[in-house]
Amino acid sequence: MTNLLETRDLNFSYRTGVPILKDVNVHVSEGSNVGLVGESGSGKSTLLRLLLGILSPTAGEILFEGSNLELSNKIQAKEFRSQVQVVFQDPYSSLDPRQRIDHLIAEPLISLRLSKQVSAEKRLQSAWVEEQVIGALESVGLSADLAKRYPDEFSGGQRQRIAIARAIVCKPRILLADEPVSALDVTTRVHIIELLRDLGEKNNLTIVTVSHDLAVVASLCNETIVLEKGVVVEQGLTSQVLGAPSHPYTKKLIESLPRLKG
Ligand SMILES: Nc1ncnc2c1ncn2[C@@H]1O[C@H](COP(=O)(O)OP(=O)(O)O)[C@@H](O)[C@H]1O
Ligand SMILES: [Mg+2]
Repeated sequence: MTNLLETRDLNFSYRTGVPILKDVNVHVSEGSNVGLVGESGSGKSTLLRLLLGILSPTAGEILFEGSNLELSNKIQAKEFRSQVQVVFQDPYSSLDPRQRIDHLIAEPLISLRLSKQVSAEKRLQSAWVEEQVIGALESVGLSADLAKRYPDEFSGGQRQRIAIARAIVCKPRILLADEPVSALDVTTRVHIIELLRDLGEKNNLTIVTVSHDLAVVASLCNETIVLEKGVVVEQGLTSQVLGAPSHPYTKKLIESLPRLKG
């Protein structure tokens, strides 16, 4: 099985110099749905930012399809950025309220795929772009006639669907999600988790989801990585890692969560 993404002895510190990630070796195979769990401050979001290529390792490597990711190489960086997209926790701050939904969803297509010569307005009028936008809206369960509206007309759950539509409009191979349901109410959470699971299965989309909530990862992810203070303590099938935890830290995480007990 090909590892789409992989880290080798990855170490990372912010400017403060405090080590945040220590010798991290994780692998994400094509089509898998991987959860990254750990307490707040364990380095989950930092690892996701490294996998997204917006932070660079202090030491060690990130491999994309087996090759060291060289984001200083503009062609490779552009190719990588078109294949890896992200969804963040808060669908209120991630969508510019002044932009129409169709413009918001079209934005990655325009910045990544189309030539620079045509004006932004012209590109938006292109039938191809419109088709992609409508396809993306429909694949997240929203109807095409919502395209001309603005974000403030939508609920948190619908906004998260819009954020997901925007992330998948370029047909990326990898979707990274940082606490994608943590800002949503419980019922909406379930629907967004189902949506992510379906998108993964139907499109052979590889998904990496960060969550402090083990229940989210237990219901969404077939593999789980457990991070404790910047160290990976376990990676394996979710059924094993969370179903029959062997590491004391994983046991502790599970015991702190009444919903998963028993
Ligand atoms: N921009 C930053 N500069 C310095 N330290 C940071 C920055 N972002 C996060 N950290 C620190 O890195 C550690 C891991 O943070 P983070 O990756 O956000 O953890 P998690 O997502 O698991 O809660 C924390 O101690 C946090 O304070
Ligand atoms: Mg975080």
